[in-house]
Amino acid sequence: MNYKNKLTKALSLATVVVAASTSSAWTQTSWKIAGGDSQGSSQHVFGLKFVEEIEKKTGDQFTGALFMNSQLGSEQDTVTEASLGTLDFSIIAINNVTPFSPTVGIFTLPYVIQSLEEAQLLTQGEVGKELVENTVRDAGVRIVGWAYTGFRVLTNSKKPVKTLADLQDVIVRVPKNEIMIDTYKAWGVNPTPMAWSETFTALQQQVVDGQDNPYVTIDAMKFDTVQKYVTNIRYIFSIEPLIMSEAIFQAQTPEIQKAVLEAGLSATRYSAKFLQENEAAIKQRLVEKGMVIDDPANGEKEWIEKATQAVWPRYYDSIGGKDKLNKVLRLLGRNEV
Ligand code: MLT
Repeated sequence: MNYKNKLTKALSLATVVVAASTSSAWTQTSWKIAGGDSQGSSQHVFGLKFVEEIEKKTGDQFTGALFMNSQLGSEQDTVTEASLGTLDFSIIAINNVTPFSPTVGIFTLPYVIQSLEEAQLLTQGEVGKELVENTVRDAGVRIVGWAYTGFRVLTNSKKPVKTLADLQDVIVRVPKNEIMIDTYKAWGVNPTPMAWSETFTALQQQVVDGQDNPYVTIDAMKFDTVQKYVTNIRYIFSIEPLIMSEAIFQAQTPEIQKAVLEAGLSATRYSAKFLQENEAAIKQRLVEKGMVIDDPANGEKEWIEKATQAVWPRYYDSIGGKDKLNKVLRLLGRNEV
C-alpha cells in the first residue's frame, strides 16, 4: 500500500474510532463478581462461562470481572455486600448462604443429596425455584445459577481417619454453618467454625488439623501442600450458587434480566459437565502429589446414622418443616422420615 492509500485508510479508521468514542449510545457495564476459591475451581470455571455468555447475550453491553480468592471479602461478607447493592454478584458455597436464608439449609443437611444428578434435579426444579424466592425475600440476593463442585471429603494433616474413633483428636475447621457444626458434634467432636478466607492459613500454621471440601476445591486451593490424608465421608454434595444483588437485578430491563438468567443456566449446565469430565483426573492428580485417600472403614454407615439421626430433626423447622424434607426425599425416590 502506498503512502496516500495508507493515509486514507488511517483517516477512515480514525473516523470510526471517533464516531465510536463520541457516540453516547453505547457504554459497556462491567459487573463485579466475587468468588471465594482460586483459579481452576468450579466457581472460577462457572464464572468464566457466565461472563462469556452474558457478553454474548447482551452484545457486549454487559461483561463481568471475576475477583477470586476472597479478594472482595469472605464468602459470607459478600452476601451482605450484594444484599446492600454494593456488590453485583458472588459465587459461593451454599453453606455460606444458609445463615442468611435458613430454608437453603435443606441442601446442607448431611447425606440428603447423594449424586450430581440429584443436585441437578433439586436445584433446577421446583425445590430450587422456591429457594430462589426465599433467598430474595430473606437475604436480598437472587440465585441466578448453580455451580456443582462434588462431594465434600475430609482432609487432615495428622493421620489417616477411617472411623469416628480416629476423628476424635483431629481439630477440624468447618464453615460458620450450624448444620455442619452440629454434624461434627454428632460425630463426637467439637469443630472450629472459621471463614473460608482464613482456612488455608489456619491449615498451614496448624491452628487446625483438617477441613472438608470437594476434590476440585482441594486441588484449586492447593490444600495438598498443607494436608495429606483424605477420608471420603461424602456427607454434603457441594452446590455453589451464583447470587446477584436483588436491587441490581431489579434495576435491569426485562431483556437484561432474561439474559442474566439464561447466562446463569448455561453456566449451570457447563458446570455439571466440567465436574463430570474432570473430577476423576483431579482426584488422581492429588494422589500423585502425595495425598492418601481412604474410604471410611465398614462403609459410611456409622457416619450416616449418627449425622442423620441427630441433625435432621433439629433443622426441620428452619428448613420449612419436616414436610419439606419429605418432599425432597420423595422426589429423590427415598423413604420419608
Ligand atoms: C467453605 O468451606 O466455606 C466453602 O465450601 C468454601 C468454598 O467456597 O469452596
